[in-house]
Amino acid sequence: MDRTFAILLLLAVLTCFVAPKVPTVTFTNGVKAPAIAFGTGTFWHKKESDKNINRTLVEAIKTAIHEGYYHIDTGDDYFTEKEVGIAIKESEVPREKLFITTKLDKFLSDPRKGLETSLKNLQLDYVDMYLIHSPFFNKTTHGIEIEQVWKIMESQYNQNLTRVIGVSNFRIKDIIRVLKIAKVHPEVNQLEFHPYVQSTDLQAFAKENKIFLQAYSPLAPIVYKKDGPVNESLQRIAENHKTTQAQVLLAWTEAKYNMVITTSGKKHHMKEALDSYDLRLSKSETNEIDSEGSKLLYREFWKDQFKNWP
Ligand SMILES: NC(=O)c1ccc[n+]([C@@H]2O[C@H](COP(=O)([O-])OP(=O)(O)OC[C@H]3O[C@@H](n4cnc5c(N)ncnc54)[C@H](OP(=O)(O)O)[C@@H]3O)[C@@H](O)[C@H]2O)c1
Repeated sequence: MDRTFAILLLLAVLTCFVAPKVPTVTFTNGVKAPAIAFGTGTFWHKKESDKNINRTLVEAIKTAIHEGYYHIDTGDDYFTEKEVGIAIKESEVPREKLFITTKLDKFLSDPRKGLETSLKNLQLDYVDMYLIHSPFFNKTTHGIEIEQVWKIMESQYNQNLTRVIGVSNFRIKDIIRVLKIAKVHPEVNQLEFHPYVQSTDLQAFAKENKIFLQAYSPLAPIVYKKDGPVNESLQRIAENHKTTQAQVLLAWTEAKYNMVITTSGKKHHMKEALDSYDLRLSKSETNEIDSEGSKLLYREFWKDQFKNWP
């Protein structure tokens, strides 16, 4: 073998081992984010009264970072921002290599205090992404409307306190309210997405308006709603690919949404999620999950609000 060719081959092999598998997305303002995030809500969620640091969570975040999750998701009402801050410090990974998202919820009526408090909890000077946790509030419930919150978030963006601003659980009509007044583009809408909540109308709308969709609870059919119509297909497709149903769900999600958040307390599950980028489903497998999933509408989070909020 020619010597130069051998060196190039060796470099290519080494690159495969060290290069992160996780793709990045680039927002309209040029900021990049790792496509997969490690969540610190749901089963990590703490009570506000619990002032103890959850060391199990700190260790799980550190493990996730070392396995290759460079994007961490939290929120001011998960009460896990302090754990995220400690894990960042203890991970010894330079802060600028990480992408940290938090959400405004508990402090909706005072977003300035909200981000100030989140930054203090996280021991950071800035977050990478700041989201409005949900559109389910107004002047009557919180003394403030979506448009006013957005304007304050724009000023936080202009002060470099956050590199990206966006929303979560927004329906098309809620996003339109933001787009009408936005001087800073809403880059992301974080929402529940899995075969039982496919939101195809939102997918088209988001694409048209250059908004990235970030899927949470991608594993719902094997975690929250285990006996649904998609299970048989998942099992067969996983067997055909000699993989797990979790990887099939993640590969299905990653092919449809640009970004995904999952979580686990187990290192092998964290690895499984990162490795899901190696799995490609065929068109017929994807179509089968689409159609079996659309036989059931099941939402794990914000059920009442999605049903009742005008
Ligand atoms: N914006 C919002 O309103 C909102 C709402 C909900 C969630 N979120 C965010 O999204 C994050 C993820 O949500 P989620 O927890 O519902 O997501 P998920 O990833 O669909 O579910 C996580 C659960 O799946 C299990 N799991 C993980 N990998 C697995 C695997 N390979 N095989 C089998 N089970 C596996 C985990 O348990 P093990 O520990 O056993 O692995 C955990 O109980 C939250 O932490 C939060 O940051 C945002």
